[in-house]
Amino acid sequence: MCGIFAYCSYLQEKDRKTVCDVLVNGLARQEYRGYDSAGIGIDGDKKGEMLFFKEVGKVAGLRKKIAESSVDMSKTFLSQVSIAHTRWATHGPPSVVNCHPLKSDANAEFTVVHNGIVTNAAALRLLLQKRGFRFESDTDTEAVAILCKYIYDSQPDKRLSFTELVKTVLKELEGSFAFVFKSSHYPNEAVTARRGSPLLIGVKTERKLKVDFVDVEFPELGAGKETEKPIDALAVPTSPGGLLAPPSQNNLMRTQSRAFMSEDGMPQPIEFFVASDASAIIEHTKRVLYLEDDDIAHIAEGELHIHRLRRTDGPPVSSVRTIETLEIELAEIMKGKFDHFMQKEIYEQPESVVNTMRGRVNFDQHVITLGGLRQYLNIIRRGRRIIFCACGTSYHSAIATRAIFEELTEIPVTVELASDFLDRKTPIFRDDVCVFVSQSGETADTILAMRYCLERGALCVGVVNTVGSTISRESHCGVHINAGPEIGVASTKAYTSQYIALIMVALQLSEDRISMMERRKQIIDGLHALPSQIKRVLEGDRSLQELATGVLSNQRSLLIMGRGYQFATCLEGALKIKEISYMHSEGILAGELKHGPLALIDENMPVIFVMTQDSLYPKVQSAFSQITARKAQPIVVCNENDEDIPKGVKTIRVPKTVDCLQGLLNIIPLQLLSYHLAVKNGFDVDFPRNLAKSVTTE
Ligand code: F6R
Repeated sequence: MCGIFAYCSYLQEKDRKTVCDVLVNGLARQEYRGYDSAGIGIDGDKKGEMLFFKEVGKVAGLRKKIAESSVDMSKTFLSQVSIAHTRWATHGPPSVVNCHPLKSDANAEFTVVHNGIVTNAAALRLLLQKRGFRFESDTDTEAVAILCKYIYDSQPDKRLSFTELVKTVLKELEGSFAFVFKSSHYPNEAVTARRGSPLLIGVKTERKLKVDFVDVEFPELGAGKETEKPIDALAVPTSPGGLLAPPSQNNLMRTQSRAFMSEDGMPQPIEFFVASDASAIIEHTKRVLYLEDDDIAHIAEGELHIHRLRRTDGPPVSSVRTIETLEIELAEIMKGKFDHFMQKEIYEQPESVVNTMRGRVNFDQHVITLGGLRQYLNIIRRGRRIIFCACGTSYHSAIATRAIFEELTEIPVTVELASDFLDRKTPIFRDDVCVFVSQSGETADTILAMRYCLERGALCVGVVNTVGSTISRESHCGVHINAGPEIGVASTKAYTSQYIALIMVALQLSEDRISMMERRKQIIDGLHALPSQIKRVLEGDRSLQELATGVLSNQRSLLIMGRGYQFATCLEGALKIKEISYMHSEGILAGELKHGPLALIDENMPVIFVMTQDSLYPKVQSAFSQITARKAQPIVVCNENDEDIPKGVKTIRVPKTVDCLQGLLNIIPLQLLSYHLAVKNGFDVDFPRNLAKSVTTE
């Protein structure tokens, strides 16, 4: 959902980089977040002048536009603060006018890049229009840029610092955001802030960093609870004591600000990189600082200061901010020998599942150790129910593991789609255990559901891939799935790693149950064999490609059927097919066939039947007979040695494993099939239309 990037360079003049390259590369790394349009804003060679380059479509188009421009890029070397954005449209269609950075006026006194949605933008727009401001775009972000100018112009003596000004602006906003602000009134400074959308700052310097806690007097502008404030209050910007009144001695608030600067206090050389995602920073530095909701970071003179916007309605947030070291490598976010990230990530699975289990599974002694849950195991065991909450593929991983979770723990488990969970205002109690599964850890619906449960006192467990993400920080405890960065919009390796992580949680919770010993051993042995079995499934890639380019090519629809553990495989397989090959596909529970879906079956309806051997096999065979009796010619996903599959039926053979792990092998041919269908049709596999990797808006 939009990628933000800003580059703040306090390097010696001779060391300065070509700013456009830094910006465009930062956007290209985050393109999976949104790829409707892209833009950058840099300083021109005249004082206070800003240059903008914007293009509809992918970042490559923007790169070309910059390369072809008549502007001499060397003149922009002095640009110390520059901002960039790749967009996933929410307000207004993809177009050059709606492309970020958005500016406050023709002179670009204030420019803004934004990820998220300002939900009161319409009211702000109306109010600002009444005061004579003109809008060029359809975006919510432009209202924010103009609001900056309005507040700046309203100051009688222009003495607000950039941070104070932004703080005043933020207090007027509802919704979710991550912003970077730049202004000609505050040259060489940037202010960045978040609420609900991810943001991190990379710090690159040869010098040792000094970290200072400074207790500063920070003017508290306005009064009252921000959330209760009527929008009309903006009408009295300068009235004494009014909402946007200039700071007075009476409303000073003590804010702890934390400053990061070079040890000897010298401002140079140091560079800061602000981004929505670590992948845009890793090529420059591994030292990053994750911002929390309501943090405002001010970058100027080679220093970084973090302030907090005081809110009464937000979740409690730690005031400690430290610089952390990223654990990903640049190679992990490159395609390498593969044509697409999705293909690379499918092929990474023999390794990524090992990484999920590494250091956690003792295969000899059949012991699982999940450090992130250690102190909470007994609380979870005493919980009256477990609620899995997630969206999309992550939701499917919860469906896939629900049965084994219930079997091993004997705790009732429900699985919730995060958006529906919130829509229903589901009753939640203190003895509930809520597990939030998310690859990105930044999905807005899942975060909101988690905060809802936190407020009600439930134990919140995160199962997350992205270290440092909102869910991993705000949950009480959890498990990182360690699948490595997933760039392809269609989730593949995160699914198998989430699946394994959830099974490991169930295995650890049941470690003291004598009656489950044999079952646990069987599953842990199954996990041991899994990586080599995944490799065997991948060896069948060529025949899957043939299916995609043969019988399944040019079909309009594809039904995927199965039951029990394989229902999740059907749902996830169908999601993969529809999201990247744009073919209608539906996962159907075979037990439900007679209750409706059977009506769809005839000789023309393509069907994939997932029919691997487990305790439900006889029932699946019976469903298989029902559809073949109606002339369907299903392609069957079955075990390698299954001789019961009728002759002449097309099969996709996979190794046999323990029932609850079989879905981990069965999904892989469906991932590959969806990939080949998309490639065959010439679709953009890593950037499917209308989708974005990380859905940070509701
Ligand atoms: C599908 C896909 C999405 C995500 C969903 C949740 O391939 O990737 O359905 O699974 O948007 O995202 P996370 O897991 O980041 O919360």
